[in-house]
Amino acid sequence: NSPRILAFAGSTRTNSYNKTLVKIAGTGARAAGAEVTFLDLRDLPMPLYDEDLEAAEGIPANALKFKEIMVAHQGLLIASPEYNSSISGVLKNAIDWASRSTPGEPFLAAFTDKVAAIMSTSPGGLGGLRGLVHVRSILSSIQVLVIPDQIAIAKAHEAFNPDGSLKDSAQQTTVENLGAKVAQILTKLQN
Ligand code: FNR
Repeated sequence: NSPRILAFAGSTRTNSYNKTLVKIAGTGARAAGAEVTFLDLRDLPMPLYDEDLEAAEGIPANALKFKEIMVAHQGLLIASPEYNSSISGVLKNAIDWASRSTPGEPFLAAFTDKVAAIMSTSPGGLGGLRGLVHVRSILSSIQVLVIPDQIAIAKAHEAFNPDGSLKDSAQQTTVENLGAKVAQILTKLQN
């Protein structure tokens, strides 16, 4: 059985550099034998997490859908934009909703023992590296096994070719390898 890996960016922007980046990692995971699902969070708009809303109406339909998709995959590839030196609200909101359990469901079912690689890109000089520190901390706190390898790509507006690949072939390989490594670890875990 091929491991299943979910790839998404913490940005809804149509021309998101992070969406472009995570596709490269997903391609690497596919080449290493994984089944990869690319998810665009723009297709699953969720309200801002609100405990009153959850108490009154339960988990909203799109948040439930997101959680179900998470549960159906063993690996995660997440490209996270850096907003004000940290995680984007879109990504944190999706994580917060997905961390909520429905009755009878195990705690953190969408996250526990998932193997993940994180990455970022930004037009700035640090490529979103400061945000990745927080993303790693959050995911690790909710039982995700975040692999040590990561990449933050600076000058996003100059980094990509029109076909979505990275101009720097060493960077391209590093990002592909992030996906491949998650696929390889999951394959080993299955055996
Ligand atoms: C940013 N951006 C940004 N970039 C960065 O390197 N460090 C930062 O702290 C921030 N802060 C920040 C805050 C807010 C509210 C916005 C809207 C943007 C710029 C950001 O990296 C840029 O918009 C990226 O293009 C966003 O990622 P996507 O949407 O291209 O994936």
